[in-house]
Amino acid sequence: NHGRATLDVRDTPPNSGHSGSLDGGFRGFSNAVDIDPALAVNRAFARRILDRAASGFVPVKAAPLGTTAAVDDAVARAVEVQRAWAAVPPAARAAGLDAVGARLEERRADLVAAMVHEAGKTVAEADPEVSEAVDFAHYYSRSARALDDVPGARFTPDGVTLVTPPWNFPVAIPAGGVLAALAAGSVVLAKPASPTPRCFELAIEAIHAGLLDAAAATGLTPGQSRHLVQFLRVHDRGVARHLVTHDDVARVILTGSIETAELFAGWKPERPVLAETSGKNAIVVTPSADLDLAVADLVRSAFGHAGQKCSAASLAILVGPVGDPSTPTGERFRRQLVDAVRSLRVGPATDLATVMGPLTEPAAGKLERALTTLEDGETWLVRPRRLDAEAAAAGLDPQRLWTPGLREGVAPGSFFHLTEVFGPVLGLMTADDLDAAIALQNGVAFGLTAGLHSLDDDEVATWCDRVEAGNLYVNRHITGAVVRRQPFGGWKASSVGPGAKAGGPHYVAQLGAWSDAADVP
Ligand code: ALA
Repeated sequence: NHGRATLDVRDTPPNSGHSGSLDGGFRGFSNAVDIDPALAVNRAFARRILDRAASGFVPVKAAPLGTTAAVDDAVARAVEVQRAWAAVPPAARAAGLDAVGARLEERRADLVAAMVHEAGKTVAEADPEVSEAVDFAHYYSRSARALDDVPGARFTPDGVTLVTPPWNFPVAIPAGGVLAALAAGSVVLAKPASPTPRCFELAIEAIHAGLLDAAAATGLTPGQSRHLVQFLRVHDRGVARHLVTHDDVARVILTGSIETAELFAGWKPERPVLAETSGKNAIVVTPSADLDLAVADLVRSAFGHAGQKCSAASLAILVGPVGDPSTPTGERFRRQLVDAVRSLRVGPATDLATVMGPLTEPAAGKLERALTTLEDGETWLVRPRRLDAEAAAAGLDPQRLWTPGLREGVAPGSFFHLTEVFGPVLGLMTADDLDAAIALQNGVAFGLTAGLHSLDDDEVATWCDRVEAGNLYVNRHITGAVVRRQPFGGWKASSVGPGAKAGGPHYVAQLGAWSDAADVP
């Protein structure tokens, strides 16, 4: 039941920071920051954040859990408060979530600073992520209320839920998982990704503050409110396995690589896991497209946060003359794309002039291969370079600072066609017509995001009907799904579990069991 299309046709403004505007109408930019000089600039805000990132950053406070006994204690505390939280009426839980939204907004500057510092995110990438977290709070508040609105049916939450998010969206995805589980009436164990613990810890500080604010509505004591979400850093693999497979953990919400999802399933196949995993996403560009827009959206989708997004564009599939540099269209498209990629200014996220920041973790494995090695028939249009001197000046591991890469001649079935590399490399493929392009786009194991640039209604209809991905975008970049407007989730190997999308109408309702109200005493 992967609801097919999130079809977004030319109606989303160029920044996903939209907190507080879930209902359409004018989407204000008061909170939005975009340091792309082509767009509105709020340099004063960005400067303040960068100063805070440089001087006021507080490292993670919580120590890692060292033993399985410590895990058992945390799970026992969660079990103890689970019954009380499930008994709180959904409307009161919703009040708690709305209070959390306000507290997250209050901590915006600290959250952005933590992302700049820990993840190497630029302010322009980090700021909308806070907005997304705020949006999740208010959206899942509505979802909680809706649980009461199904006549004759009763909802029972899963119970103690482990939320294990990735490091690439270290605030929005963790907050989304925690808030969805809380909305359902489940108590949360929150395990951060190891590169970005402070981001999650700060979000949880805001969540705790909001839940305490709403204590009059929920009726919970301060101690109970704090135990609704416990922050558990785990570095030891044996301890992590104990947590993931614990008998009193009822559900796991995972966002991460397909390898992690498989690891968890191998540890305990019967454990319900809801996972959003990898992607190998392409944007198809047909000759009817607005080609200037296509170039801009490709660059933004491929190189935002240095390509470290499950939703990122890793392939451009160029149809007919667009992919043929011996035609005027193809020659111009290629020249504009190369210029745009070369123009991206790479540097540390603490430099306001940086457009593409560093990798969060040093390039290794598949990504290192993609940055350094061509396959048969491929050539570099823009060859990635490691910026050793700049990395040294910024105190970064040199494997973290790479300029973007653009490779052409990617062959069907090759390494780069099929493999998620999670970094700043875009590959070009060519197709004779739209049918062939769709076959290439669908010819991968994953199905997370997909893009089409075309101004031809028949092409748009054909593509929407056939492309196999959770989130489809027409004439728009393919990253930065907006809560409620573009519920986010994958298809095929990109998704594990029931499959309703994050930030969409059924996400919370799948985190529990439905029964006939008459059957429940
Ligand atoms: N939800 C994130 C995006 O859409 C992954 O880019």
